Amino acid sequence: MLEHLKEQPKDKILALMAAYRADARDTKIDLGVGVYKDASGNTPVMRAVKEAERRINAEQTTKAYTGLAGDPAFSDAMIDLVLDGAVARDRVAAVATPGGTGAIRQALELIKMAAPGATVWLSDPTWPNHPSIIKYLGMKSKSYRYFDSDTGQVDYVGMLTDLGQVLPGDVVLLHGCCHNPTGANLTMPQWKGVIDLLKDKAAMPFIDIAYQGFGDGLAQDGAATRLVASSFDNVLIAASCSKNFGIYRERTGILMAVAKDEAQRDLAQQNLAYLNRQNFSFPPDHGARIVSTILTDAELRADWEAELEEVRLGMLDLRKQLADELRRLSNSDRFDFLAEHRGMFSRLGTSPDKVEMLRADHGIYMVGDSRMNIAGLNADTVPVLARAIIDAGV
Ligand code: LMR
Repeated sequence: MLEHLKEQPKDKILALMAAYRADARDTKIDLGVGVYKDASGNTPVMRAVKEAERRINAEQTTKAYTGLAGDPAFSDAMIDLVLDGAVARDRVAAVATPGGTGAIRQALELIKMAAPGATVWLSDPTWPNHPSIIKYLGMKSKSYRYFDSDTGQVDYVGMLTDLGQVLPGDVVLLHGCCHNPTGANLTMPQWKGVIDLLKDKAAMPFIDIAYQGFGDGLAQDGAATRLVASSFDNVLIAASCSKNFGIYRERTGILMAVAKDEAQRDLAQQNLAYLNRQNFSFPPDHGARIVSTILTDAELRADWEAELEEVRLGMLDLRKQLADELRRLSNSDRFDFLAEHRGMFSRLGTSPDKVEMLRADHGIYMVGDSRMNIAGLNADTVPVLARAIIDAGV
């Protein structure tokens, strides 16, 4: 039986993680996988998370199953965090999922059940797991232009031109904030333009929001998702708690389905619970309970928001340091876009050869498409990276 298996393509981001670990150089710099690191290279457990875990440990009296959709307190708290009342609660179906990836997978399966012929449109580039899961599920996908490597900005004209080809009932996947891998994001007027176009085309938006709080702030980062959610009858939203709560390995995410009315919400809810049952039965609870404990307690929530804000401002500061240093070394403003990007990532916009040169010659690990995790830097490594970028002739 097992001899019939074929080798599967390696995930580029995870392969890079392994290569970094195997590199013996103590000067190596990890700008690969999207995990936040502080100035000493640690990925700390957030203060509010520690306290929530302590309370859960002290107060929890059972580990018996929750419902198939997970703990309703988690869904309520997350719907509130992401949508903040933009859509009536009785229009939103939701299930807890194993991380943001689990939410994306369940969303795609839901689309496949509802509209097997629909094409899912992806930004070019996008997070590699998007096309990978779509291919695995045997679904159709197309890409729309998104990034202009020359300017480091969104190619808005190209995006609208390509989305002009969308057919009624197609699904358009959009990153709610902090675009992965580019770091380049739509402005609010541009979001309005995309919304108008998709309404005109009778397409359904599907938002992946994995970095809320890492860009312009918790509320601002949810603004586009809220605008989209309130503009259509149907929207799917996959949200991850891995990054903003720093609970990567707990696998905590949520899929929300905005429905036209309460009856349609009930149908979507029943289908989402069915999907959870088929794929893994009950979703993981520990991370979800940490999140709902924090979000429903004023003191813990304030502390979490304060620490998240420190993380966000730290990354913004690193962006500025890097852009300043590159401006100084290159005597030009061509890297200024790095300070304008938002979130954990920026796409440098150079060739795979140069990325390989940076790895081989300097022990600098970034994804082959030149995506850098800004949180992998600190005040000491910013000048090292800037110098290496210039030396490599980027
Ligand atoms: C990333 O893009 O690096 C993260 O989302 C981690 C992952 O699973 O790929």
